[in-house]
Amino acid sequence: MSPSYVLVTGGTGFIGAHVVDCLLRRGLKVRIATRSAAKAEIMKQDRPEHAHLIDYVTIDDFEKEGVFHGAAKGCDGIIHVASPFSYDVTDVEKELIIPAINGVKAIMEAAASEPAVQRVVLTSSFASVLDVARGPGPGFTYTGADWNPLTYEESVKADPVVAYRGSKKYAEKAAWDFVEAHKGSINFDLVTLCPPMTFGPIVHPVRSVKELNVSNAMLWDIAEGVSPLPVSRVPVWIDVRDLAEAHVQALLTKEVGGRRYVPAAPDFFSYQLAADIMRAKFDWAPTQVTKGNEGEPIPESYTLDGAAVARELSVTYHTFPEMVVDALTQFRAMPRE
Ligand SMILES: NC(=O)c1ccc[n+]([C@@H]2O[C@H](COP(=O)([O-])OP(=O)(O)OC[C@H]3O[C@@H](n4cnc5c(N)ncnc54)[C@H](OP(=O)(O)O)[C@@H]3O)[C@@H](O)[C@H]2O)c1
Repeated sequence: MSPSYVLVTGGTGFIGAHVVDCLLRRGLKVRIATRSAAKAEIMKQDRPEHAHLIDYVTIDDFEKEGVFHGAAKGCDGIIHVASPFSYDVTDVEKELIIPAINGVKAIMEAAASEPAVQRVVLTSSFASVLDVARGPGPGFTYTGADWNPLTYEESVKADPVVAYRGSKKYAEKAAWDFVEAHKGSINFDLVTLCPPMTFGPIVHPVRSVKELNVSNAMLWDIAEGVSPLPVSRVPVWIDVRDLAEAHVQALLTKEVGGRRYVPAAPDFFSYQLAADIMRAKFDWAPTQVTKGNEGEPIPESYTLDGAAVARELSVTYHTFPEMVVDALTQFRAMPRE
């Protein structure tokens, strides 16, 4: 696979901006699709050495259908990262589920309309893999063959956390269904990545720590002394830098067409562990970060087959302590307001 011009949706967001940088470092041209020309301009300004490789198209919100019409013109690869990711919603079907599905359908149509496109890589989520009924216990390894059993009807009636899981499942399913339905008439294949909680340093346009994305905001709250410490829903995670690398390798590695991965670091995390690391590594932390149950072991848990990504996509994972140190060093240097 040798794409030279890649359309990246969500390229101004937490994960997408790292994907953009991984592509630029390889000398590939990138087109960012965004609702905000201002954010795309900042992405260019922040990368003067690569600005000549970046352009952008502005799109409507995924509330509307077909928003990527014409966006892939001239591109030969697509990485679709954008999807609504917020628990602060009142109508889960309207604000989370339908936009996520619309976004995927629109990007698949855009890919099909541009014969040069060889592959679409889609950011799904462990949310579309997790079967809550299995429980948290050890003895089971989730792989790309596993699907969340949530029905559409259950998703639209659920709270935002569960509805988000439905949004990711049904959006990803729409992509696989599209490929199946258009077999023989499209020139591209599909790879999906289903990462768990994603943390790490940021490279997207954010003015202050107040604008950190949902997952990193949890780490920042701990640094700020939130008490009690939050309890994580899942103990599995990945560093955003490794996830971005997995996306780009998934685009470039010919043999992996049609694969579905669960990229995940081999070590487990808890917010208690994050607090312990901060308190051990930073001078400011012992007086500020809640002690909680210092040293509390993380309960044994199911695992994810992150090894397939390491093996097939040549990704080396950061450890949780490395990520906490790198992320907090950066966040502490950012404006507060
Ligand atoms: N962060 C995590 O822990 C995590 C874990 C697993 C999977 N994921 C998945 O990774 C992807 C990116 O997440 P992220 O953490 O990078 O989130 P993010 O920072 O919020 O970025 C998502 C981007 O998607 C675009 N977007 C969101 N809602 C949209 C809508 N209604 N219509 C059009 N565009 C919309 C936005 O781009 P513009 O504002 O530029 O239009 C936004 O920058 C999502 O698919 C998410 O489900 C995230």
